[in-house]
Amino acid sequence: MKLSCAFLALAVVALAAASPVPKKTLDKDTLMKQKMVYKLLFRVSQDELLPDLHERGTKWVLEEHKDVFTKPEIVDDFLVWYKEASEPHYLARGEPFSLFYTKHREYAIKLFKLFFFAKDFDTFMDVAVWARYHVNEGVFMYAFHTALLHREDAKDLMLPPLYEVNPHFYLTSDVMVKAFYAKMYGKDYTNEKPYIIEANYTGYPEPWDAEQVLSYFLEDVGMNTYNGFVALQYPSYMNETYYGVKFERRGEFYWYYLKQLYARYFLERLSHSFPDVKMVDYWKKVKVGYTPFITYPNGHEAPMRPKGIEPKDLDTNTVKQIFNYEKRIRDAIDFGAFVSDKHEYVVVDDHNGLELVGDAVFGTGDNHVSKRYYPSLFRSLMMLFGHITDPMHEFEVPPSVLEHAQTFMRDPLFFSIVKRVLHIFDQYTETLKPYTKDELIAPGVKIESVDVDKLNTFFDHFYVDMKNALPYREKEEIHMTFVRARQWRLNHKPFSYRVQVSSDKDMDAVVRVFIGPKYDYLHNEMHLDDMRKYMFEIDRFPYHLKAGKTVVERNSRDSEFFGGDSPSYMDLYGRIEKSLKGEENFVYEDNTHQCGFPERMMLPKGTKSGLPLTFYVIVSPYHK
Ligand SMILES: *[C@@H]1O[C@H](CO)[C@@H](O)[C@H](O)[C@H]1NC(C)=O
Ligand SMILES: *[C@@H]1O[C@H](CO)[C@@H](O)[C@H](O)[C@H]1NC(C)=O
Repeated sequence: MKLSCAFLALAVVALAAASPVPKKTLDKDTLMKQKMVYKLLFRVSQDELLPDLHERGTKWVLEEHKDVFTKPEIVDDFLVWYKEASEPHYLARGEPFSLFYTKHREYAIKLFKLFFFAKDFDTFMDVAVWARYHVNEGVFMYAFHTALLHREDAKDLMLPPLYEVNPHFYLTSDVMVKAFYAKMYGKDYTNEKPYIIEANYTGYPEPWDAEQVLSYFLEDVGMNTYNGFVALQYPSYMNETYYGVKFERRGEFYWYYLKQLYARYFLERLSHSFPDVKMVDYWKKVKVGYTPFITYPNGHEAPMRPKGIEPKDLDTNTVKQIFNYEKRIRDAIDFGAFVSDKHEYVVVDDHNGLELVGDAVFGTGDNHVSKRYYPSLFRSLMMLFGHITDPMHEFEVPPSVLEHAQTFMRDPLFFSIVKRVLHIFDQYTETLKPYTKDELIAPGVKIESVDVDKLNTFFDHFYVDMKNALPYREKEEIHMTFVRARQWRLNHKPFSYRVQVSSDKDMDAVVRVFIGPKYDYLHNEMHLDDMRKYMFEIDRFPYHLKAGKTVVERNSRDSEFFGGDSPSYMDLYGRIEKSLKGEENFVYEDNTHQCGFPERMMLPKGTKSGLPLTFYVIVSPYHK
């Protein structure tokens, strides 16, 4: 089975992982669950479209069902917030929600607890249907998705693609408006011949500054879906003691994930001969401006940011406070210990260092470091720069794209923030003793040569079904509406590479493969020590080496780091219905989980004369 999402990043690669993906046919019970989930996520902002759901959601009363939760106290706790949040200008239905806002977040977590601690799947559905009609749409969708990914009885369910559930996060507002008109006036379109809306990226066809040509990368639907998924898979607040779940080295995972994103973005910049980004500064003007052209379903626009604006105190934190959060982490690295909630020192050692720094930066982890003394720096930075145009919430500007995992990468400033965050980890890794040669080499093993096919990139078309973005008078209309957005996107031809290895004995090894830069943006050859910061890991797999020469042949499609496209919401829904009628056998495929970095985006866009890259392969002994 494909390891779910980016879990692979740190998971131990097992030798057995090389076996093919087992496919399983969904049974009736699972199909019913699937259908329910798909219905619940459809047109969440429209109340009376699906009468059966509406009736169930309005009849059930949360107050009367405290006994259906394994932790009954969570109901009252939620209700207090629910009453307050239903007031206008907080989080009544219709208002934009952001998990980065402290109060929104608290509220969403409280709903998530109801979903997570519901005694069985049917109860979970009762609460979900109730919430679907009573709670703010954004809060509902966030908590529902997260519960589906973390409840044991729902883990295997496929989720509809995030970009079709929330198309307004992925497509600019002109596309949304065109879809609306197409539905109003369009006639005679069919599933085979839908109405097509050409969607472009911000800054196209005329970029407002040279770097905006990179929006095809930053706004890529697959990349943003992946970011959204990672956030859902690794909620920083879920802890072992309370939720009974275990995340392996979550803080460290987040570091690795951002490092990969950053390296990949660097390579894309290189393809356009742009230099590396500069990290954000607390005390300097932000030089990068951005207009997202993203509109919330209630019609409010995500704010734009002009160039040359300075970070200002927020209503929740001052600039100085956030600066201090960072300083505390940097001090802990230099001092060699963090403080815990119990006011004890947690000593940083080679084994746990990255995890501790990660916990402090991302606010993850159980008991390790004090959450009060080290509140999530990452989130604070995103709020500081995300809310830069309305820091005191004076003008009720809705959340910026930086304040949602599904959209934060759209804003080029994201990578300047990431760079600052990664720099903290660099400060830590520089305190480590360098590896000795013996620690790195596999004795008796030598890579004789590496041979890579010619790499080819190109742009192709990609379709987003707009059904979930449109209002309907009645259910029947849904099946008569055929509107799709079409966008060009980066892709590449699959390629193979061959690594010739000689070994003086039989041995289990792990092969890791990276691509990185060869020249900097001025076409100077880069030193290995600079290159390593921008190495993008594209594969990691176990391999049994035989004594003598072996050619390890591998295809780009074999890599478990990457995921493919998802089938569309309506295709999947149609297949579920057919399978329930016995007309089709629904076979479960893991990639419908949208996990993994998009496979299409493995390589940076090539150039006419060719973009030189470094292909780096390392073979190490396999230690279980
Ligand atoms: C988007 O803009 C690019 C650059 O001008 C252009 O080549 C492309 O055709 C445009 N695509 C659409 C769908 O408008
Ligand atoms: C774990 O989460 C629960 C619920 O949010 C919270 O009450 C508790 O303090 C957390 N425990 C730790 C050790 O962080």
